[in-house]
Amino acid sequence: MKNKTIASFLQTVGQQTEVFARFSTVGGGQDSSDYARDPRGFALKFYTGEGNYDMVGNNTPVFFLRDGINFPDFIHSQKKNPKTNLPDPAAMFEFWANHPQSLHQVTILMSDRGIPASYRYMHGFSSHTFSFWNDQGKRTWFKWHFKTNQGIKNLTNKQAATTCPFGAQEDLVNAIERGDFPSWTTKVQMMSEEEAKDYKINPFDLTKVWPHSNFPLIEVGQLELNRNVDNYFSETEQACFSPSNLVPGIGTSPDKMLQARLMAYPDAHRYRVGANANQLPVNAAKYPVNHYQRDGKMAGMCPEGGENVQTSKVNFYPNDQINEGAPAPLPTIAEPPMPVEQDAWINRFDTVNTQDYYQQTGDLFRLMNESQKSQLTTTIAEGLIQAKSEVQKAMLEQFSNADIDYAQRIKVIMKNL
Ligand code: HEM
Repeated sequence: MKNKTIASFLQTVGQQTEVFARFSTVGGGQDSSDYARDPRGFALKFYTGEGNYDMVGNNTPVFFLRDGINFPDFIHSQKKNPKTNLPDPAAMFEFWANHPQSLHQVTILMSDRGIPASYRYMHGFSSHTFSFWNDQGKRTWFKWHFKTNQGIKNLTNKQAATTCPFGAQEDLVNAIERGDFPSWTTKVQMMSEEEAKDYKINPFDLTKVWPHSNFPLIEVGQLELNRNVDNYFSETEQACFSPSNLVPGIGTSPDKMLQARLMAYPDAHRYRVGANANQLPVNAAKYPVNHYQRDGKMAGMCPEGGENVQTSKVNFYPNDQINEGAPAPLPTIAEPPMPVEQDAWINRFDTVNTQDYYQQTGDLFRLMNESQKSQLTTTIAEGLIQAKSEVQKAMLEQFSNADIDYAQRIKVIMKNL
């Protein structure tokens, strides 16, 4: 990867980097079953020689939205009903009926892939577009793909309902304990800045995939999980992942959802764990790095060889103490300028080119075999029947825009429920 990025952990074949991983369900709280029909979080922390790099992805290549401004509304609509404290499919569908951009992800969520048999049997994706830059200051857009070496395995609704709610956690811990280490082949899709300018799909639209036929997957390594944590709370619960934890050679992109995430995560960490969350061993860099954080509760827990904390050195920049060893940005690792505004050309409530919402959804539906189509449409019908009639109508129109057969099958099943 040398010609694409200066990221120190991606320079030579055979190089190894320690990683911490956390998998999760998304919508539910701690009471969520491991087998909820829900995306799965796929979060990785790479302890690289130049500080920590986090890849905070999901098990799906796309997401429900393409603008962070809609995210709070989306999350509210997916939570339990405030009166009954029960899951509320009517509210979920009401949100989706008003956001046709969600249809692609809704189709993945309701498909046979919506309930992975365990965390070992699912892929991981950055979903977002990120950027590499090389020593010439040249940027390449890219997406991460982690392809499970265990193969994809899923549960049906019926199997999920009768499986132990902690089953995925148990499966992962036990596999690692017996030395059957789960692994993923790590790949990237790359797009040059020139290609991005004319590509038929906005490369920063999180509701779309980059077709592999145009941007093939390129293998860059293996991810292996070969150690369980010693204490779940101190490590896994207190782990703090953020898409803004980056290292030289890897940057963000004009993707509006990603831009919204960059500050949301450290905010959550300060509230959830504390101002000095990065001093906990699971979060601290394993190699000395500079930062300007000082004071706050629990300051001073610096693990040996880890973050360079609690110093009395200057903690602002620019300063006059560069010659006395104060940290300063290195021009040799400076990121090339990113035209965020020019390139993020999806408007907030863009309804132009609505056909675009449906093309990739329809393609996905048409790729499915008979059993997959039947599982998908049955699951949708069972949820949609609980929504208001105008929501049902709007959703059926969306399905029909993707593929007439998709809508037709749902209609027939709903009639018979
Ligand atoms: C604008 C959109 C989004 C916002 C504002 C947002 C915000 C958050 C926040 C505040 C947390 C809790 C962080 C913590 O307490 O440590 C979280 C967790 C998480 N989010 Fe997002 N999120 C967004 C979209 C996404 C997307 C698109 C993905 C995947 C591609 C994603 C993946 C995750 C994962 C994997 C976690 C759990 C990390 C862990 O295991 O600790 N999020 N999100």
